[in-house]
Amino acid sequence: MSDDHQAAGESDPTSEKLVELAKRRGYFFQSSGAYGGVGGFYTFGPQGAALKGNVEDAWRDRFAVAEGNMEIDAPTIMPEPVFEASGHLDGFDDMLVECPECGESHRADHVVEDNTEYEDAESLPIPEVEEVIAEYELVCPNCGAGLADQDVETFNLMFATNIGPGDSDPGYMRPETAQGIFVEFPRLKEYARNQLPFGVTQIGRAYRNEISPRRSIIRTREFTQAELEYFIDPEEDEPDLEAVADVEVTLYPASEQNADDGSEIRTTIGEAIEEGIITSPWVAYFLGVAKPWYEAVGVDMDRFRFRQHLSGERAHYAADCWDAESEVDGNWIEMAGFAYRSDYDLSKHAEHSGDRFTVFRQYDEPKTVERATVDPDMSYLGPEFGGDAQAVVDELEALAARDREAFEGDTVEIDLEGESHEIPVEQTGFAVEEQTEAGEHITPHVIEPSFGVDRLVYTVLHHAYREDEVSGEDRTFLELEPEVAPTFVGVFPLQTDDELEAEAQTIAAELREAGLSVTYDDSGNIGRRYRRQDEVGTPFCVTVDYESIEQEDGGVTVRERDSTDQKRLPIDDLAETLSAIRAGDLEFEEL
Ligand code: GAP
Repeated sequence: MSDDHQAAGESDPTSEKLVELAKRRGYFFQSSGAYGGVGGFYTFGPQGAALKGNVEDAWRDRFAVAEGNMEIDAPTIMPEPVFEASGHLDGFDDMLVECPECGESHRADHVVEDNTEYEDAESLPIPEVEEVIAEYELVCPNCGAGLADQDVETFNLMFATNIGPGDSDPGYMRPETAQGIFVEFPRLKEYARNQLPFGVTQIGRAYRNEISPRRSIIRTREFTQAELEYFIDPEEDEPDLEAVADVEVTLYPASEQNADDGSEIRTTIGEAIEEGIITSPWVAYFLGVAKPWYEAVGVDMDRFRFRQHLSGERAHYAADCWDAESEVDGNWIEMAGFAYRSDYDLSKHAEHSGDRFTVFRQYDEPKTVERATVDPDMSYLGPEFGGDAQAVVDELEALAARDREAFEGDTVEIDLEGESHEIPVEQTGFAVEEQTEAGEHITPHVIEPSFGVDRLVYTVLHHAYREDEVSGEDRTFLELEPEVAPTFVGVFPLQTDDELEAEAQTIAAELREAGLSVTYDDSGNIGRRYRRQDEVGTPFCVTVDYESIEQEDGGVTVRERDSTDQKRLPIDDLAETLSAIRAGDLEFEEL
């Protein structure tokens, strides 16, 4: 639930310009504008949807395909028992404080963080947050009324709904895609042939009824997550650390955050493990995989770090957690969390559903073990306990497995719904037997890299935002990586002319056929068309002129976005050359 680590500047200049550009050029804008809009819901326009889709594809390639993981697509609404088991019904809360004057609700920890030196108020207990609000005489950000006497309350972030008519079957919009994977574990392990380790990914919507959504798509009420749940045998499985040992990272461990003169540490994944900075090798492995991936999709590595959660900040399921954070106008925002979830989720779902959330671990050699068993005499238990007889059997079995000494006397004591009962041991069929076992059932542990796609899209746009001057004119452009840019190439006829337009259309069609994303534009002067493409981050523009049509393959002008350099290329080679650049096999400068 933590997101912006520092107070978020609502009005930093680049963000303001970026949000305006995003709306004007079709990246993203507040939804349902015709009805006044509604806080925390955004629509990705044509450019934004394409950029987001490219980011998701890149994530899928790296975290599902390249890692050999399975991808699933589960429903976004799940029944109440799922969230009783997962702990979200009881524990997925934020702190809310309501203004006594205007009635507006605010996240109490944000009110504290935005107006005091506290950086991580989310980890403070509620009474302490109330004390800080009173001590600093904090006021409502909306109307300025004092909040000192207001109670701070917990607010569950899940959107509730009813499944079918009536209210007998409550359901919730999933607050994380992860639960859709955990609940299907008994089937997914079969698809993995019961072999650990294995990973399951999912890219999809998650919903949180945020108290105060803000900073455009950074904190919304509906957003996209790309999550990997990686199931391991904690005693047997080890990651391929060699593959990531040399990856250079900037780390901000909890110890440094807590120290007065603490600072970020530049190191490698290998050294961080050796020095005990990152304790879980699995978390370290995924940080090592994620860092170059973030770089490849366009996150500026000078504005990127991994920050460890402080103990009070961790979600209810996490044993350890590191966030990937990006710097946006002086504020660090959380783009992803890498959590060691231990066996928390699978154990909880096993307990609540009664299904098997375990995997069979085969011993190297079969083992002979002593097992305490019971075989109760039902002709005794039936008349004694009636309908509760089976519950007594279950209790006796559990007790024998856990405490065989309890059967050493003449009677054994069991507890049934808070009431104690004495049962003669001779009626329980208690025995200790030697058994040969080939293995045991274990509950896998989970490592979870959980990416927020919207925040990544925002970061990529923010880090790509540039302003310069071209031929004495101001220019804004997005230096997006070709891999994620919504459009790879713009194709223009130099001016209004049937023949030029026909040739440009033919070239555009050929480039599309080669698998490139192409936009055709014949409106306005050529300089304006370049600016338009620069502003949406199109890496290349192709202009068709009279030379192109009057000579046998007279070529076209190809202009590169960042340098604005132009080169003449034969039409016949165009698709092949641009495809090679798109694939990273050729540089524009080499042409
Ligand atoms: N399954 C783990 C989990 O959901 P999280 O840290 O709560 O962990 C993961 O969420 C990511 O989802 C965050 O790092 C963030 O990028 C994104 N995220 C969370 N809440 C969000 C919100 N309200 N709006 C946009 N993105 C959000």
